[in-house]
Amino acid sequence: MSTNIVWHEASVQRQERAEQRGHRSAILWFTGLSGAGKSTLANAVNRELFRRGLASYLLDGDNIRHGLCNDLGFSDDHRVENIRRIGEVAKLFLDAGVITLTAFVSPFRSDRDRARSLVEAGDFIEIYCAADLAVCEQRDTKGLYAKARAGEIPHFTGISSPYEPPENPELRVETGSRPIETCVRQVVEHLQAVEILKHPASESQRQA
Ligand code: ADX
Repeated sequence: MSTNIVWHEASVQRQERAEQRGHRSAILWFTGLSGAGKSTLANAVNRELFRRGLASYLLDGDNIRHGLCNDLGFSDDHRVENIRRIGEVAKLFLDAGVITLTAFVSPFRSDRDRARSLVEAGDFIEIYCAADLAVCEQRDTKGLYAKARAGEIPHFTGISSPYEPPENPELRVETGSRPIETCVRQVVEHLQAVEILKHPASESQRQA
C-alpha cells in the first residue's frame, strides 16, 4: 500500500473529452472460455467502432500477457492480479474518453465484479461470450485443449480450473453457435440502445 501520495485533479475532465469527441466512453468487458470467440468478436466490434470514427481500444488477454502481465501465470492468484491490473488500466482508458474493449477469460465472478466496482454504473458493460466447452474444445484453435486434456497445461479453464459464467451480464452473445456478423450486430445494437453509438437515423440527421 502506497503512503504519502496525494491525488491531483486532472486539468481535462472526461466529460469535456466526450463533448469534444461526440461520444461517451465505456468499458466493454468480454468474458468467456478460451476459444469462445472473445478476441474475434471484440476485434470485429473494435473495427466497426473505428470505421464509425469513434475512439476505441482493445486490451486483449494473450497480447497483454506478452507485456504488462508477462510476470503472471494461470494460478488463481495470478489470474486475480491479471484482472485487477486490466480493470485499473481499463478505468484509465475510460477516463481518457476511449471506448475500451477487454477480451480476457476473466473466469472469476468476484474479479469481474471488482473491475465493475471501479467505475460508475453504466460505464461497465459485461458481454458474456457464451460457447459450450465442447464447442471450444472442438475448435481448439490454439491446440491448448488437447494439451490440457493430456495433462500438459495445469489449471486450464474449463478443464482443470473453473469458469464462473456471469449471472446478470448486460449482454449475452451466442458466440459458440451464431455467426460472427450476428454477434457483432447484437453488440452494436446494444451500444445504440445505451446511446454510446448513434442510431443510423440520427447519424444521417447529423450529416444532413
Ligand atoms: S485470465 O484467466 O487471466 O483472464 P487471460 O484471458 O489473460 O486469462 O489468458 C487466457 C489465454 O491464455 C487463453 O486464451 C489461452 O490462449 C492462454 N492460456 C494459457 N494457459 C492457460 C490456462 N491454464 N487457462 C486458460 N488459458 C490459458
